Amino acid sequence: VANDRAELAGARQALGVGGAGGGTLALVPTMGALHEGHRSLIRLAGEHADHVAVSVFVNPLQFGPGEDYARYPRTFEADLEVCAAEGAGVVFAPSAEEMYLPDRQVSVSAGKMGTVAEGAFRPGHFDGMLTVVLKLFNLVRPDAAVFGRKDAQQLALIRRMAADLNLPISIVGAPTVREADGLALSSRNRYLSPEDRTAALALSRALFAGAELAETGRSTPGEIRRAARAVLDAEPGADVDYLILADPATFAEVGDDHGGEAVLAVAARVGTTRLIDNVVLTLG
Ligand code: PAJ
Repeated sequence: VANDRAELAGARQALGVGGAGGGTLALVPTMGALHEGHRSLIRLAGEHADHVAVSVFVNPLQFGPGEDYARYPRTFEADLEVCAAEGAGVVFAPSAEEMYLPDRQVSVSAGKMGTVAEGAFRPGHFDGMLTVVLKLFNLVRPDAAVFGRKDAQQLALIRRMAADLNLPISIVGAPTVREADGLALSSRNRYLSPEDRTAALALSRALFAGAELAETGRSTPGEIRRAARAVLDAEPGADVDYLILADPATFAEVGDDHGGEAVLAVAARVGTTRLIDNVVLTLG
């Protein structure tokens, strides 16, 4: 475990990362409360580099005033066991004081893509997310970094940042890990009551309904959105923030003339917990 930048530099050196003939490093950024989805990212990272680093940091900058920063689950000891079991060579777990200078001013702007879809409901979230990810990249200096497609807009923005700011890091996307009944794994699922858990299934059910319709190859984006919306409307326990069929690279809603890949994405509040999920479709 490295808790500050000096320990992190030492851990990099001990692993023999970088330099001439040195090994390569892949980073998996997380906020902890690790589950099977995070595990799959750590395993995938091992396929992209000689060594794997996992960061565990609940980033205050990406939480809004009314959001769940204070009650975000913190399970550090269990997280360390997960990282060790999946073969991570170093866990970087800085404090908020280590990460942010008291007089900090400069940060990353997510631009227009940071204000649509998820960004419209969480103002400033993507700026805070990109800022911490860039800082983690600069501290850990990985050759590759792995992110889940579960957070599709986050992944698209990180790819955009890597391209726009010339980051020398290859960005790897990982498939969404789900429970057997379809629910996408999330650190926040632990807050769902048994009734919430049942209502939460409407998210994946709606996305799968849309995906099934898209597979027929004869459906328009409007029809796909309506089919998914009907499933959500039938579940009173899920309060929808948005349901969109969007361009996976920009998150702009697609029109009826759109061909190729599109992402069907949903955010909904179930009880006191806010959940997101998405699937990628091919439009004929
Ligand atoms: P966190 O929510 O902990 O997620 C860490 C990584 O795990 C992200 O790349 C996320 O997409 C991925 N992930 C979460 N659930 C998943 C699932 N069911 N299947 C596959 N991957 C999944 O996302 C963040 O943290 C933060 O925003 C972070 C990038 C660390 C910046 O603070």
